[in-house]
Amino acid sequence: MRVTQFDTRDPYSYATGLGNHETEALKGALPIGHNSPQKAPYGLYAEKISGTAFTAPRAENKQAWVYRVLPSCAHSAFEPLDDDVNPGTTDAAQPNLLPEFHLVPNQTRWDPFDLVPGVDWVRGLRLLAGAGDPATKTGVAYYVYTASQSMGADTAFYSADGDFLIVPQTGALDIETEMGRLFVRPMEICVIPRGIRYRVSLHEGVPVRGYILELFQGHFSLPELGPIGSNCLANERDFQVPVASYRVQQTKDAAADDDRRCLLQAKFGGRLFQATQKHTPFDVAAWHGTYYPFKYDLGRFNTIGTISYDHPDPSIYTVLTATTNAHPGTAVADLVIFPPRWLVGEDTFRPPSYHRNVMSEFMGLIAGDYIAKGGGKGGFQPAGASLHNVMSSHGPDAGAFEKATNETLVPDKVGQGSMAFMFESCYMMGVTDWGLKACQKVQEHYSEESWDGLKIYFDPCGRPRGE
Ligand SMILES: [Fe+2]
Repeated sequence: MRVTQFDTRDPYSYATGLGNHETEALKGALPIGHNSPQKAPYGLYAEKISGTAFTAPRAENKQAWVYRVLPSCAHSAFEPLDDDVNPGTTDAAQPNLLPEFHLVPNQTRWDPFDLVPGVDWVRGLRLLAGAGDPATKTGVAYYVYTASQSMGADTAFYSADGDFLIVPQTGALDIETEMGRLFVRPMEICVIPRGIRYRVSLHEGVPVRGYILELFQGHFSLPELGPIGSNCLANERDFQVPVASYRVQQTKDAAADDDRRCLLQAKFGGRLFQATQKHTPFDVAAWHGTYYPFKYDLGRFNTIGTISYDHPDPSIYTVLTATTNAHPGTAVADLVIFPPRWLVGEDTFRPPSYHRNVMSEFMGLIAGDYIAKGGGKGGFQPAGASLHNVMSSHGPDAGAFEKATNETLVPDKVGQGSMAFMFESCYMMGVTDWGLKACQKVQEHYSEESWDGLKIYFDPCGRPRGE
């Protein structure tokens, strides 16, 4: 699978790669050799968006210059977002965004999360787990998202708290951002950086569901390849970046068009706020820089594995990483995937071994079955999830162990039609009230059902099993 064969065609064009980009939807809208000319072309305003401190090292520095109809500061005061703006929501359908976490050592697994009716992208966010605090720019948050309706045509959203790494499981996301449009389907992932304004529509009204990792600190980048060399894993050329696209202004004097004031919704410190503005936020005619949204087709991942024996660490499946500067190789968060791949290890227990790690592991399943777990009702299912926290022991369930230790070892293509992923983090993950109780998806007997069936085969006389 070099490229995913999607059911739904992507209607947009993209630039490729993760370096500096420049793009204009109107010829000549991008000043040449200048960021802030006295008068920007076409009467546009120049505006800078910084994603790192001004003085961050050049290799890490992320910023963009956008050229837009009105600066983004031209909006009313923010007010807390209340239910009046979204009639029809109920208490059970409230967003859950405050980072208030319970630390529990148990292995935890969730049945597939429900599609919530009557909510858009913003109202459908549910905080499941996380660590840290957006106010101090430390840690991460994991969400389940669902939406059964598009955001309003003149509504935009941004998170001041962190970058959103979006992993769709059901339905295509049609995302209009300040910097252009993205079409993101299951088997693709998308990153929308902190502060970038966007609007999510459902393609042909099909409800959507998936997972989000919000990164409170730093940004994602490609992992180092070390001895692998200059290619493989996720190749930089396969990342797709939107090209500038702006809406046509309805009237020259937008203030006279008050009935069409746009809504600007913000997530700030885990709370939602709303302001209005007289002009659409999607008014950027040109931009350049290194701070922008992007997407990636997981089908393009070039998977590495053993061709001799033993089971390598899953770090070989890392798509994106956000590193801690304090400890090289230790990630705030990694996105790891388990794509279709050949297993050929000789005299090898081929599923993941039993383990407990210093890192926490949150897993989700986009489609299909996962090699180390049984699927079906009560198992690890698409749209479900699991959390194996810091030093929480886990591994193949009893059935997967029996199969893996008794099967004849021949080259085997596993994971066909399947895609599991993992958010791996150096932080101890807490789970929210919603994740532990309100969602009603926790599998109460996950541990017993998985590992109570493991038999004791130990024989101090060293006789082979089964004799
Ligand atoms: Fe694990």
